Amino acid sequence: MHQELVQRLRERRAVVGVVGLGYVGLPLARAFAQAGHRVLGLDVDPGKVERIERGESYIDAVPTEVLGRLRRDELVRATTDFRRIREVDAVAICVPTPLTVNQDPDTSYIERTGEALAPHLRPGTLVVLESTTYPGTTDELLRPRLEAGGLKVGRDLFLAFSPERENPGDAAWSTSRIPKVVGADDEGSRAAAIALYEGAVSTVVPVTSSRVAEATKLLENIYRCVNIALVNELKVCFSRMGIDIFEVIEAAKTKPFGFQAFYPGPGLGGHCIPLDPVYLSWKAKEFGVRTRFIDLAGEVNTAMPEWVVERTMDALNEHGKPLRGSRVLLLGVAYKKNVDDPRESPALVLWDMLRRKGAEVEFHDPHIDYLGSGRHYAIEQKSQPLDPSTLARADVVLIVTDHDAVDYALVVEHARLIVDTRNATKAVRGGAKHVFLA
Ligand SMILES: NC(=O)c1ccc[n+]([C@@H]2O[C@H](COP(=O)([O-])OP(=O)(O)OC[C@H]3O[C@@H](n4cnc5c(N)ncnc54)[C@H](O)[C@@H]3O)[C@@H](O)[C@H]2O)c1
Repeated sequence: MHQELVQRLRERRAVVGVVGLGYVGLPLARAFAQAGHRVLGLDVDPGKVERIERGESYIDAVPTEVLGRLRRDELVRATTDFRRIREVDAVAICVPTPLTVNQDPDTSYIERTGEALAPHLRPGTLVVLESTTYPGTTDELLRPRLEAGGLKVGRDLFLAFSPERENPGDAAWSTSRIPKVVGADDEGSRAAAIALYEGAVSTVVPVTSSRVAEATKLLENIYRCVNIALVNELKVCFSRMGIDIFEVIEAAKTKPFGFQAFYPGPGLGGHCIPLDPVYLSWKAKEFGVRTRFIDLAGEVNTAMPEWVVERTMDALNEHGKPLRGSRVLLLGVAYKKNVDDPRESPALVLWDMLRRKGAEVEFHDPHIDYLGSGRHYAIEQKSQPLDPSTLARADVVLIVTDHDAVDYALVVEHARLIVDTRNATKAVRGGAKHVFLA
C-alpha cells in the first residue's frame, strides 16, 4: 500500500496536512507548498486560520508576500475543522510540547491531536509527529490513539517521527535547507515518510526507528543546554577572577579542531532548550536512570538570572544607587537575537525578580511591540522607543537580548549605566567605565 502513497508524493498529487500552525508548522507548510504539494493547515486557533486564509502571515520567517502567493495559488489552505483530515494523504503534527506546572512533560497536545485525527483518517494515510518529545512517544502515545479509529499502523496507516530543527531568526538555514532525520518502526512507514520529505528538504536522513529519531533531537538540544551551562558557570568563575569570558571564547575559537564555541547569557530561553532535556530526564526515570548532567545543567542555567540581578545591583551600587526605586530598561526581551518570540525568555524572569526587589522596569525590543501577560507573569507593557531620552531616564540599561537592529553606539552614548549580558556593546564601548559585563 505504501508504494501508492510514495508515488502520489513523488508526483506531487498528494495533499499534505500540517497540524499546529505555529513557529514550526507554518514554515513547514510553506516548505511543502513550495515543493509543489497542496497543503491543508489545521489549527485549533481560529485567529491563525483566518489570517492564513487571508494570505497574511504572523511569523517573521514566512513573509506575508510569500504566504499570500501560496494562498492565491491554492497551494496553502487552513481550517479548524478536523473532519477535513480525510482530504489529506500525509499529515505532519507540530503541536506544542510544554511542561506541566510540576515541570513534567505535557504530552496532552499530542494525545488530543491523535484523538482528533483518528476518526477521520483514510486508509493509506501517513502521520508524522514532529513535536519534540521523549523516545517512545510516537509508538506508546500516538500509535494507540490513531489505531483507536480502527486502522492499524504498518497495515492500513503509516506512522513516523521526524524532529523539527527549525532555527528561528536564522535566514541561512530555512526549513528546506536543514537535513531532516526520519525514523519509523516499519518499512512502509519509513518509505512513505522519506518520500514526503525528500521533495521538500535538501537532505533526508533515515534512521531505523521512531525512538532513534526522537532521541536524536534530544541529543542535539541537550548538547546545547549542557554546553551553555558550562560557559555560564565559567562566566561566573572568570568574572570573579577579573577575566572577560567573551575574550576567552574568541581566543579559544581560534583552535581549528576539538572546540566549538558556546556563549554565556542571562539564562536559557525559548520553547526548546530549557524544556526538552526535561523530557528525557523524566522518561529516564522509568528505566532507573538518573540524568545527572542534564539536572546539573538545568540548575546552573536557571541560576543565571540571579547572577545578572546581583551584577546589576553591584553596578548600581558603584553609582551610589540601590536597586529599589531605580528605573531599569530591559533591552531585548525576545529569548534570542533577531526573533519576535518572548516565550520562556530570561527577560521575563529578570523582569519579575527586578520588580520584586522594588525596581521600575520598562523595555525596548525592536521585534516585540507589546508584552502581554504570559503563563507565568503579568506584565502588559509597550516597547519604549530607543531614543536618547528613554536611555537617559533609565538608571541602568540591562541588555538581555543582542538584537542586530539595536544601535549600540547610541546606547553607550546616552545610557547612564549599562549591564551587558551578551557582550553586545563590544564593538562600540571602547574603555567606557559605565558598561559592566554580566
Ligand atoms: N519554535 C522552535 O524554534 C522549535 C524548534 C524545533 C522544535 N520545536 C518543537 O515544535 C513543536 C511546536 O513548537 P512551536 O514553536 O511551533 O509552537 P507554537 O506554539 O508556535 O505552535 C503550536 C501551534 O499548535 C496549535 N495547537 C495547539 N493544540 C493544537 C491541537 N490540539 N490541534 C491543532 N493545533 C493545535 C497552536 O494553536 C499553535 O498554533 C514543539 O514540540 C517544539 O518543542 C520548536
